[in-house]
Amino acid sequence: MKGTVHYELKDNVAVLTVDNPPVNPLSEGVRNGLYEGMEKALTDDSVIGVVITGNGRAFIAGADISEFGGKPEGHSLNDVFNKIETSVKPVVAAMNGLALGGGLETALVCNYRIASPSAFVGLPEVNLGLLPGAGGTQRLPRLVGPAEAMKMMIIGSHIPANKALKLGVVDDLSDDVVKSSIEFIQSVKNDQNHPQIRNIDKNIIEFRGNDDVFNEMKQFAAKIRKGQFAPGQIIKCVESAVNETDFDNGLKKEGELFLECLMHPQREAMIHIFFGERAAAKIDDVPRETHKQEIKKAAVIGSGTMGGGIAMCFANAGIPVHILDQDEDNLKRGIGVINKNYEMMVERGRLKPEAKEFVTGLITSSLNYDDIHDVDIVVEAVYENIDLKKKIFEQLDEVTKPETILATNTSGLDVDGIASVTKRPEKVVGTHFFSPANIMRLLEVVRGNESSNETLATIMDLGKKLKKASVVSLNAPGFIGNRMLFGYSNQANMLLLEGALPHEIDGALEAFGMNMGPFRMFDLVGLDLGWRARKLGKLETPLQAKISDALCDQDRFGQKNGKGFYNYVEGSRAPHPAPENEELYIKVSEENNIERRQISEDEIVERCMLGLVNEGTRILSEGVAQRAADIDIVYINGYGFPIWRGGPMHYANSMGLDKIVDRLDYYFEKTQSDVFRASEFLRNLANNGQKLGNAPELGDREPKKSFNVVNAGDL
Ligand code: 3HC
Repeated sequence: MKGTVHYELKDNVAVLTVDNPPVNPLSEGVRNGLYEGMEKALTDDSVIGVVITGNGRAFIAGADISEFGGKPEGHSLNDVFNKIETSVKPVVAAMNGLALGGGLETALVCNYRIASPSAFVGLPEVNLGLLPGAGGTQRLPRLVGPAEAMKMMIIGSHIPANKALKLGVVDDLSDDVVKSSIEFIQSVKNDQNHPQIRNIDKNIIEFRGNDDVFNEMKQFAAKIRKGQFAPGQIIKCVESAVNETDFDNGLKKEGELFLECLMHPQREAMIHIFFGERAAAKIDDVPRETHKQEIKKAAVIGSGTMGGGIAMCFANAGIPVHILDQDEDNLKRGIGVINKNYEMMVERGRLKPEAKEFVTGLITSSLNYDDIHDVDIVVEAVYENIDLKKKIFEQLDEVTKPETILATNTSGLDVDGIASVTKRPEKVVGTHFFSPANIMRLLEVVRGNESSNETLATIMDLGKKLKKASVVSLNAPGFIGNRMLFGYSNQANMLLLEGALPHEIDGALEAFGMNMGPFRMFDLVGLDLGWRARKLGKLETPLQAKISDALCDQDRFGQKNGKGFYNYVEGSRAPHPAPENEELYIKVSEENNIERRQISEDEIVERCMLGLVNEGTRILSEGVAQRAADIDIVYINGYGFPIWRGGPMHYANSMGLDKIVDRLDYYFEKTQSDVFRASEFLRNLANNGQKLGNAPELGDREPKKSFNVVNAGDL
């Protein structure tokens, strides 16, 4: 049984301390401990009140997420909360740290709440496809009003203690929450009544019978949580909190709606991602206790969009960073962009002016390699040219301390090739940031053949400090993310050749939940990249790229020159269909003997998803990704896959691998395309009724692809 609660008597006050490291979730042992602790305190005549607090950095981080979907054991949260709420002795929540979800709900059934100034509170259940199901949707609106409460629950934000005090979520702040709570109980020991949030209605009464606030919230939720089930349920709960005159009726409604969320596939998908993200930060064969180097100072080579964004990540994490460029004008421009980005954050209220001064003060720059001799890590972020990168690494190897980690920010170049020019290949690693690096959460960490455990552990630790979702990939063409795009993009392009138009394909995939359809993405990246590479290498255009190359021949390069698969109005990124392209689509289809036809949305989604999933299973079968969930983390954080579908591999598991193999076989028979050739690995899993999980053991893996045999233009 996980977790316990310590019972102590201090000055006639029972102090119940939740102990369930590291963040004190309400596991069975904690629920039982709180229930029994309350009973003991209530039956001991010498006890004048109860303080509930947590051990370590958290008060209580919520219900135990690992228990969802299983059979509940021990005292329920409802039993515990009834015990607290019906107590005749005052109960104070001494909120020493994080109070999230069921943790804040615990505090809300107490009579009083005193928080440490460093505590954070919030009801982030929505991130797990859930709603606050232990009274949070009924009690929070009574403290802060329905609009603020719904905003907190739909965003799932963590609110700092001083803001919680202003909003009225907590009553007071103290550096020593337990001592202050005991003193407080002594000051109210003779009071007959202690406040209960269930009896407060001054903040909700004016909204009774008025739908405006709820309609506004529905629009807000549709915008920031597109396609998600839980936000609508949260709004319904708060409607009950406002409109039901009997508190218990609202509570009952919350219980019913919570259960619907619990049974919904989105809940399973989003909890898969919660644990997947934490698992992805661990590398199976790198022991947890591996020594990590301290990163006190960093350098970034290149002051372009990527370099600037990466430098901002370091500065935002409080790590001094030096930017190096070889060109003074570029450097000036790059520093200017960084300053503008920070100014915009201040204007939008996302950064305080004094915080801007602090972070920009951490960024220095120069043209001289000698200036980075003492840094602990260098991230090289120049454009994708292996010869240039090798030259830079030779220089870095000369000027930096022997222990400095040398990272290359590449989306697809051979990290071992780059490491080979240094005398410290064990200190070389790939760090594939996504653009804009200061905003996108994904960090693909590319493990070279010789990257040491210490280097890898240090980078994973650094990823957490930079607030990234880090995923390890072996050094293989396209790593995880870009390689998977191959099958997906291939099918999007084939569908275009077969008769679907770009906005139809994008529309179908966006309705499925993708943040951006493939043709909007191609236009954003630039159609000319592949076209130029093929021209330069005198390579033949593959069938799937025929239309894209033909567009480039007509000077349609994508967003960069205002026309590609779509048209763009200057200064806007909004795509407008381009009917003038249709003649060209028909011509290219004809030239390639492809008969154009009407294609359904279902077929569009199915073929693109099969392309994505099948390449993912190959990546797993080669051990390029450690686990299927790692691939899901990459796709959700870097490629706009909807979190509520749990990522492409979870999606395949939830469809059933036997069905996936059936459909791959169906399309393979029709097209003979390698995109649909199901691997033996996938077939075996499907035959045995298994799911995509860990990569096979070392000896059972398919050989990973080599950089020599894969044409970069194909990825
Ligand atoms: N239940 C079970 N395990 C939890 C947990 C929880 N609520 N919260 C965190 N953990 C585990 C993590 O899985 C991780 O385990 P690991 O070390 O084995 O990988 C460990 O605790 C540490 O977590 P993090 O690595 O995430 O630590 P951080 O310091 O980065 O973050 C945190 C701490 C902000 C608390 C973050 O873990 C978090 O956001 N947790 C979830 C909070 C939440 O969503 N609470 C609501 C739960 S649902 C609920 O309460 C329903 C109720 O309304 C009925």
